[in-house]
Amino acid sequence: MRIIKKIDELRPIIKSWKREGLTIGLVPTMGYLHEGHKSLIDRAVKENDRVVVSDFVNPTQFAPNEDFETYPRDLDADAALCEAAGADVIFNPEPDEMYRDALTFVDMNKITKVLCGKTRPIHFSGVCTVVSKLFNIVTPDRAYFGRKDAQQLCVIKKMVEDLNFDIEIVGCPIVRESDGLAKSSRNTYLNPEERKAALCLSRSLEKGKRLIEGGEESVAAVLDVIKTEINKEPLAETDYAEIVDLKDLSPLVKIKKPLLCAIAVYIGKTRLIDNFIME
Ligand code: PAF
Repeated sequence: MRIIKKIDELRPIIKSWKREGLTIGLVPTMGYLHEGHKSLIDRAVKENDRVVVSDFVNPTQFAPNEDFETYPRDLDADAALCEAAGADVIFNPEPDEMYRDALTFVDMNKITKVLCGKTRPIHFSGVCTVVSKLFNIVTPDRAYFGRKDAQQLCVIKKMVEDLNFDIEIVGCPIVRESDGLAKSSRNTYLNPEERKAALCLSRSLEKGKRLIEGGEESVAAVLDVIKTEINKEPLAETDYAEIVDLKDLSPLVKIKKPLLCAIAVYIGKTRLIDNFIME
């Protein structure tokens, strides 16, 4: 496995793979890899001849008051995980290599303005821009994204459709700790007390899901149960809890599948997200 930092170094490798008729899987990440990322890499390795893992903390998706500087980084540990999982290349550029004097950004309306987009207005433009660039650099056959970032997955699928990228987008299941907390690089910010408090995310979602499975049809009633459960936790503050149409992320009043129930909750200063989908 090779760690490549320059676009001009990666391109000839990609071209030689293509000449050989090999398929390429891309796993875009911001590094500090955990079992959630590993599940994406495992799937990519299974479904493609060659796998590139991008490992890049993308500055354009962080607002100035967010955690770009402190976002955890550990390239050596990432390399060990990727190597063991059977990836072929880690693409780990510096911000300057990706952006230099860039004046072009990819923006999207509507579905980037709801849920996380309300409190993170520039986030999805940064995500769409970096993912487009990675798609153009790696030209993969398939790209793998986790369903924990359900809105991101929805946005990327729409971008691929709108901009005619010839790439299959593969959404992969959320990977959780044994107590239910969804795996996230940001979990490392939590102190032991906050780590315990963070369980209110998965617990509240579980309650909401059970209510729907029991026949509840009112979105307001389900959200009420979810928010009440989160509010029981003194260290938690809800950013949002919403139930939306899975296809266009428009808000629902009555439970109607396919749906996405998504929450973002501050545990202390750490903002965590989680969700469930009902198809
Ligand atoms: O999900 C992430 O880690 C990032 O948003 C992504 C897709 C790698 C783009 O920077």
